[in-house]
Amino acid sequence: MYFDKEFKYEAIPLINRFKLSEDTDQSLFPKGVPWVRYHGTYKDLHINLIWPGKDLALGVDSVGTVSASLITYASIQALKPDLIINAGTAGGFRAKGACVGGIYLASDVAFHDRRIPIPVFDTYGIGARRTCFTPNLIKELNLKVGKLSTGDSLDMTPQDEAAILANDATVKDMEGAAIAYVADLFSIPAIFVKAVTDIIDGEKPIAEEFIQNLVAVTEALDQAVTQVIDFISAKCLSHL
Ligand code: ADE
Repeated sequence: MYFDKEFKYEAIPLINRFKLSEDTDQSLFPKGVPWVRYHGTYKDLHINLIWPGKDLALGVDSVGTVSASLITYASIQALKPDLIINAGTAGGFRAKGACVGGIYLASDVAFHDRRIPIPVFDTYGIGARRTCFTPNLIKELNLKVGKLSTGDSLDMTPQDEAAILANDATVKDMEGAAIAYVADLFSIPAIFVKAVTDIIDGEKPIAEEFIQNLVAVTEALDQAVTQVIDFISAKCLSHL
């Protein structure tokens, strides 16, 4: 099992809570990549938290689908996880009932910025898929459930908005559908825990609202992920 976190800021509380140690043996991933693995044992679980690290040229966190896909692929190859948890922040659609601080488990994922208006390629571009079905987890933790739409931009153009609506999404991120695609290639179950930092169909500028709410929302995400991990421990996948 491993986490994929887009911002180190989001990962630090989890690293502390699960007493994960940074990998000193850098042989897990190819030489030169910025990806960092934290690992440890919590109850009966072997946890690997993978942080995408800083962009080598610009020094900012490696957000987005390209980095997420590569890391998911490399992590699956190296770690052969039983389950992938993608935990991170998301924008929320007020029109679908989302509010800042809401924690969602994604029932479905799809892309909203891969427009290929040719028959069948259009469906391929959207890349909609269902996530691992976890009815007991949802019930026990009283999590909100909604569809997740993924694209490589933090903001939202009118075309993106139309596609997100067509995807029937409540939350929007920059990694989920890409991680789901790679996980599916290798038949690894994946769940997506997303905490809403900003309202994408609200009045406030998205980037401003995101930065303003990041600290508080990350704490809520940390708590939710801890509950998810506690629930998962000592259970087999079919009981989730
Ligand atoms: N993560 C947090 N807010 C987001 C947004 N508005 N779009 C994509 N990813 C996000």
